[in-house]
Amino acid sequence: MQKFKNKVALITGGTSGMGFATAQEFIKEGATVIITGRSKETVDKALSNLGSNAIGLVSNAGKLSDILDLQAQVKIHTDKLDVLFVNAGYGKFASIETADEAHFDELFSVLVKGTFFTVQQMLPIMNAGSSIILNTSFVTGFGIENFSIYSAAKSAVQSFIKTFSSECTVKKIRVNGISPGYIKTNIFNNTGLAPDQIEGAVAGIIPTLPFKRFGEPSEIAKTVAFLASEDASYIHGIEILVDGGLSNTK
Ligand SMILES: NC(=O)c1ccc[n+]([C@@H]2O[C@H](COP(=O)([O-])OP(=O)(O)OC[C@H]3O[C@@H](n4cnc5c(N)ncnc54)[C@H](OP(=O)(O)O)[C@@H]3O)[C@@H](O)[C@H]2O)c1
Repeated sequence: MQKFKNKVALITGGTSGMGFATAQEFIKEGATVIITGRSKETVDKALSNLGSNAIGLVSNAGKLSDILDLQAQVKIHTDKLDVLFVNAGYGKFASIETADEAHFDELFSVLVKGTFFTVQQMLPIMNAGSSIILNTSFVTGFGIENFSIYSAAKSAVQSFIKTFSSECTVKKIRVNGISPGYIKTNIFNNTGLAPDQIEGAVAGIIPTLPFKRFGEPSEIAKTVAFLASEDASYIHGIEILVDGGLSNTK
């Protein structure tokens, strides 16, 4: 039996990587999925691969006016959401000395402000029994050089899991998080690194990973689907690490 028959899921940042894989997983399980992305081009490309049970919206998670308009855009297609996966984002990395205000504001806008206001704006169309999942990162557990701003932003999202879950208990909306390890997505494309630098970074990381491989986006998607499903009906306010054991080895 399909787990999400007649359910509607909104996935922010659903045009590639984990968001796209999660959209595929929910559609496979019977859901209608609404994805967001920053450009019509990326949204349309994803829709052409997801098929007729997907709807696409252009909405920038780093732009408050877009987020304030998102509920109205979603309501054109549905009165209610059963699942909200707040996933849109990317990383940029710089040392304490070289990071500037623009870098700080950019990451905090997309990851912290974006997450907060997306949840705020979607809550009115989420009913009892629905589920919110926030995407954090394994990096919050470590002191990785050049990651200070990205890790701080993801730590704020981690904090939202706790506060949002407390506040949503009365609404019977479960709130949880997923904390991915290194996952094979387009994330490095937003870092400003050249392709050969990305290749070099990936080649340097793989030997440090317990399974000697990056995680697949589908491995995140299946965990998000679990957290959103009835199988997780008593799971609330926690974060699941999907990092192939990396956090255990440091
Ligand atoms: N890959 C990893 O190793 C890793 C590990 C831990 C956590 N994460 C987190 O996982 C999430 C998903 O990233 P990914 O790894 O799947 O990378 P990805 O393949 O680059 O996907 C990122 C998605 O977010 C969207 N996006 C980025 N900025 C956006 C914005 N301002 N507004 C709306 N959509 C936006 C992108 O859409 P458009 O390009 O179409 O706008 C795309 O759909 C991010 O929050 C990232 O920080 C990644």
